[in-house]
Formats: sequence, structure tokens, C-alpha cells
Amino acid sequence: MMNKKKYNIVTYGCQMNVHESEKIAGMLCELGFENCDKMDEADVVVFNTCCIRENAENHAYGNIGMLKKLKMQNRGMIIAVGGCLTQQMGKAENLHEKFPYVDIIFGTHNLHKLKGYLILKQKQKKPVISVEDDEGIVFEGDKPYRTSYPNAWVNITYGCNNFCSYCIVPYVRGRERSRKSDLIISEVKELVSQGYKEITLLGQNVNSYGNGTDDISFPQLLEKIAKIEGKFRLRFMTSHPKDFSEELAKVIAENPKICRCVHLPVQSGSDNILKAMNRKYTVEDYLNKISILKKYVPDCAVTTDLIVGFPAESEEDFEATLNLVKKVNYSSAFTFVYSKRDGTVAAKMDNQIPEEISKKRIIELVDLVNSLTREHSSVYIGKTVEILCEGFDEKKNVYFGRDEFGRMAYFGFNENVVGEFVNVKINRVNGVSLFGERV
Ligand code: SAH
Ligand code: SF4
Ligand code: F3S
Repeated sequence: MMNKKKYNIVTYGCQMNVHESEKIAGMLCELGFENCDKMDEADVVVFNTCCIRENAENHAYGNIGMLKKLKMQNRGMIIAVGGCLTQQMGKAENLHEKFPYVDIIFGTHNLHKLKGYLILKQKQKKPVISVEDDEGIVFEGDKPYRTSYPNAWVNITYGCNNFCSYCIVPYVRGRERSRKSDLIISEVKELVSQGYKEITLLGQNVNSYGNGTDDISFPQLLEKIAKIEGKFRLRFMTSHPKDFSEELAKVIAENPKICRCVHLPVQSGSDNILKAMNRKYTVEDYLNKISILKKYVPDCAVTTDLIVGFPAESEEDFEATLNLVKKVNYSSAFTFVYSKRDGTVAAKMDNQIPEEISKKRIIELVDLVNSLTREHSSVYIGKTVEILCEGFDEKKNVYFGRDEFGRMAYFGFNENVVGEFVNVKINRVNGVSLFGERV
């Protein structure tokens, strides 16, 4: 039997991209390729890029640059670059100039056409560069090759209309559009019947699902999905605080399949900065939303995203962020140093903060977040929690999986329990990680 041709996909960025890499893998499988872990053994290498911060972008450039040598040794190899980086205005042309050996450059808007581009590239010598078309369509008919059993991701919206002043996403993902609820529901039903145990609904701002269409609201969608038969967990991300509603808090409270864990990015604890960020809520509004959530779901874990060093952020603004973090008592948080993105409103603002100051602030913030995380973890000692086992770590010889609040637990066991819900008694914690034994 002839050996199948192989592909390797390198993914940067968020969960949205991770899932889109599964869609790319699906297309490659349809073309008869099979996955391989080593780039130097692959016939097709795809980079699915991110440009949310400068370092994400540089990382991708570094790796595409390193591939030149491999391409010289194996001229038949096809290199494709897609994702948010290529979708930035003028970036596809720049990339082509910088890396002329890249065969295919595609964007987020036309990802579903990659299969056609690969077929075309096999026929023609010149590169295929296409990032422009199809903005705004909601493509259906993906056949993702899912790689994260027992977890599965399902898109509910694409794009973003919020234009937070620091953020590049609306420019590289286009305007917000929602998938039809009946298609989402049937996709989830099928995944559950296939044995997937954790479904995560994806959108840049899931709370505005259905906006501008005659479809149902996000809480209604969530409730319908939570009523699907079978044992599974339901998560969603990301929630924008401005659209987080009491109705949503009620739906979480009333439906045990929905994880008691909400990611509610606040970005800053200062009203001045929130205004300059165009976040459309104040600290008071945000705290009110948290109170509503806790009123209905008292044990709900809340996580967040925080940015330090936004233009003109003063010491007082930063202190306000530290205070808010303490007040909300987040169970964990992603912390970022502001990164100037060309084309965004904030990039043109005066008073960009010097790197030394941002560095000092991020260290202080990370210390605070870590201490809260440790406190949240210490509560677990001696408790038994239900873990959905996600995999086996061969090096450490332990299984691992998360509880409904999103905490990762590691435990020893002598039978394969991947994809099963198991009870684990926690006897040790380290940072965000829990360690225990199956009971
Ligand atoms: N749509 C989601 C998340 C988008 S990006 C939301 O609105 O919450 C994930 C996180 O990256 C953001 O929440 C923000 O904290 C961070 N981020 C976005 N742009 C950034 C920038 N220019 N510099 C630093 N962090 C940024
Ligand atoms: Fe970016 Fe704001 Fe949209 Fe999130 S809501 S993707 S931070 S513009
Ligand atoms: Fe995600 Fe990065 Fe794009 S965070 S939406 S892959 S810019």
C-alpha cells in the first residue's frame, strides 16, 4: 500500500484558531492526507497564525522563516499560511515579499476554500494568495477533524463589532455574524451522540448571539443546548460584560450541565481606562454583573483577562486594577502587557507607556493573581471532585482532566479512563494544578 501524504499544522492564538485548525485538518483529510507530528516529515505544513499581540506575530514570523531550509531540501513541500495575521490589511503582500517560498496565503474569511487552494497549487507554480473574499458569510458544511476528545468546540458567532480600542480582532475577523440556532443545536446533538463530554460554544462575544437576526438570544440557545439528553458539560466563551444579563445568570443556575465557571474579561479596574478602551461599562456596572451572577450561582468561579500598560494608564489606574482583582477574587486570570496594534484607535493615542513601567506592573499583577489562585486551590485539599478525564501524561504517568470550574487535576490510575467522568480526592495542590487519587 502506498504511504499516505502527511500534513502538519502549527496553531497560534485562541481557541477559535485551535478549532479552525481542526477544520483545516478536516479538509486535508478529505484530500487524502494524514496528520504527522513532525514538520520535517510533512508534505503540507500549515501555519494558522494570530496577531492579537506583537509577540504572537513575531513567533509566527520566526517559525515561517525557519522553514526556508526545509523547503530548499524538499521543494515539493507545500507551505500554507493563514489566520488572523494574514488577514491584516496589506500583510499578505508583505508576507509574500518576505517569504517568497510560501505557497499559499489565505485569511480567516476564506479558510473554507483552502481545499481548493491546495488543489490549485498542485497544478500551478506560482503561489496562491487570497485573503479578500467572502467577508461576512457564515460558512456551513465544515467537517472538522477533531483532535481534543472528549472536548469539542462549536462556533456560534464569528467576528466582532465591539472595536475595543486596543484590539485587532474586528479588523481581522470581520463583523459579527451568528450561526443559525437549529444548526448549532444539531451539531451539539451529534457530538454528544458521538460521545463528546464537554462542549464549548465559541464566539468573541457570545452574549450578543443572534443580534440583528430573528434567531433566539444567547441564554435561550444555551438553555436549549443544556436540555439535550446525555451526560455532558457545557461551557461558553467569551462573555463581554456589557451584554452579560440576569437571564443568562438564571439559565446557568437552572441547568446543571452548564459549568459554574464564567470567563468575564474586565481588562482594567479604572473607569478612565475602560472608557479609553471603549469597553462600554464602568467598574460599578461590572461589579453589578458579578453580584447578579453570584446571586443566582453563588459558587460560580469567575475568571478574567487583564491588560496593563494601556496608553496613559497612571499608577492610580493600575492600583484600581489591583483593587478590583482583589474585590472580585478571581479564581484565575490571564494577564497581558498592552501591545500596540497598527490600525487600532489606541495605537494613535498619546502617552504610550514605557516598557519598564508595564513590566513592573505586570509582575505585580501576576503576583497578586497567583496568590488568589493559590488560595482558591488550597480549598480543594481533602475534597472529592468530579473530573472529566482528558488524557494521559506519559512522562508523569498520570491521567489529567478538569473539574467544572476549569481546574486541572492529575491522578494515578491503572485503567484507561480518558473521556470518563471520575471522582478524584485531592490531596495536594500546586498553583492552579490539583493532585489526587481516584476514589
Ligand atoms: N473577544 C474576547 C477575547 C479576545 S482576545 C473578549 O473580548 O474578551 C483575548 C484577550 O487578549 C482580550 O480579552 C485582551 O485581554 C487581550 N488583548 C487583546 N488585544 C490586546 C492588545 N492589543 N494588547 C494586549 N492584550 C490584548
Ligand atoms: Fe477584541 Fe473587544 Fe471584540 Fe474582544 S470584544 S474581540 S477584546 S474588540
Ligand atoms: Fe484569536 Fe489571535 Fe485571531 S487571539 S481571533 S487568533 S488574533
